[in-house]
Amino acid sequence: MNEKKTARLELDGKVIELPVVYGPENEVGIDISSLRSQTGFITLDPGYANTGACKSGITFVDGEKGILRYRGYPIEEMAQRSSFIETAMLLIFGELPTREERTNFRSLLRENELLHEDMLHHFEGFPPNGHPMAIMSAALNALGSYHTDLLNIQDTSDMRLAAAKIISKVRTIAAFAYKKSIGEPAVYPDPNLSYCRNFLHMMFSIPYRMYDPPQEVVRALTLFLIVHADHEQNCSCSTVRMVGSTEANLFASVSAGVCALWGRLHGGANSAVMDMLDYLHREKLSVKDYLEQVKQKKFRLMGFGHRVYKNFDPRARVLKRAAHDLLDTLGLQDDLLDIAQELEEAALNDDFFIERKLYPNVDFYSGLILRALGIPVPMYPVMFAIGRMPGWIAHWYEESQDPNMKIHRPRQIYMGSKERKYVPMHKR
Ligand code: ACO
Repeated sequence: MNEKKTARLELDGKVIELPVVYGPENEVGIDISSLRSQTGFITLDPGYANTGACKSGITFVDGEKGILRYRGYPIEEMAQRSSFIETAMLLIFGELPTREERTNFRSLLRENELLHEDMLHHFEGFPPNGHPMAIMSAALNALGSYHTDLLNIQDTSDMRLAAAKIISKVRTIAAFAYKKSIGEPAVYPDPNLSYCRNFLHMMFSIPYRMYDPPQEVVRALTLFLIVHADHEQNCSCSTVRMVGSTEANLFASVSAGVCALWGRLHGGANSAVMDMLDYLHREKLSVKDYLEQVKQKKFRLMGFGHRVYKNFDPRARVLKRAAHDLLDTLGLQDDLLDIAQELEEAALNDDFFIERKLYPNVDFYSGLILRALGIPVPMYPVMFAIGRMPGWIAHWYEESQDPNMKIHRPRQIYMGSKERKYVPMHKR
């Protein structure tokens, strides 16, 4: 146990003591919650790179050592041994489920896999080329209006039901959005299929022709979802927590998470990586020339760099291996995988990337798996969102249970005009 320390801060000749908070993995933070009331000062930390917004018991990341654990369990073990549903239960409810708990939760997922039939009109309202992330975010928010009894979660049984509804239906929403985008009829979920197999069925079956993927394909999708299931206080998770801090309902909060995830610097990076690899391939551009342009800061090397990981991203390692295994077992060869490897190797040996501690992140190889599964590029961030759903739900729930929870409301240093008199129109 660490000896309790305080940080001393001297401001305008006045010394104040601020408590130091320790986590069980030796993470340390200075508790500045009394700073403003004691001194009138606030902290300024654009991008929150040095700011802990909460205490959380869900996911541990050590960016220097490349460690990621869900509730204490290493990501490598979870990826190899767990299922997505078990991972989701672990994240949300805190422990690996017993066989009975898992069976019951699976039944709940099955019972809730259909969307209300009226929801189909929502899909019809979108243009054919509407981005599936827009559709997913809108549909998740709309879902709340079909389950008004769960807008105000009262107990763990409500929470279980809400979690099951969202985790189950998000997969149906994603597949329906895809079918809409290619002009095919929606394929309804099949209660006899497992979570991932059912999703692939809704994506790729057509009336009278059932898609029956090989086990390796189902396993690769499972692994993809597990690896994406949570990553502590990243931008989308923080968005979910921020929206949730107003006591907004779970459906609205995760819908906001989808919007935050969409950007190219976050979950949208997986499709940006694929566009980049495709561009290099199509234009026959050499890796060396491309990296030169990155180093001139014309654009970023997508799928590289991370706010927290400064050594390696363990998820990228798991996914790189999985991409190779999948392609090998399916007997596929993909030029884009070769380009990705060449890019990785060149970047990892280049001073620009070494000095800035830039390594492949989760998005660098994930798209190559999705491509081998036949999933189109605009759906990549949607796949990320399906995987991340348990993490968002777990954080929303944890926050709602926290007796010290406060509405999130950062401050600012105002740099605008000082007070001035209103100028009437004729004098402007
Ligand atoms: N390619 C080239 N240069 C980069 C990259 C990159 N991918 N990432 C960071 N840098 C450079 C920056 O230009 C900067 O250089 P400078 O010191 O000369 O100005 C330095 O590295 C630090 O960059 P920041 O933007 O300050 O790093 P930050 O921690 O804020 O950003 C981020 C992290 C957004 C992930 C960034 O690395 C990036 O844009 N990567 C590409 C997009 C991507 O892959 N996003 C997915 C991240 S994982 C996820 O969200 C699931």
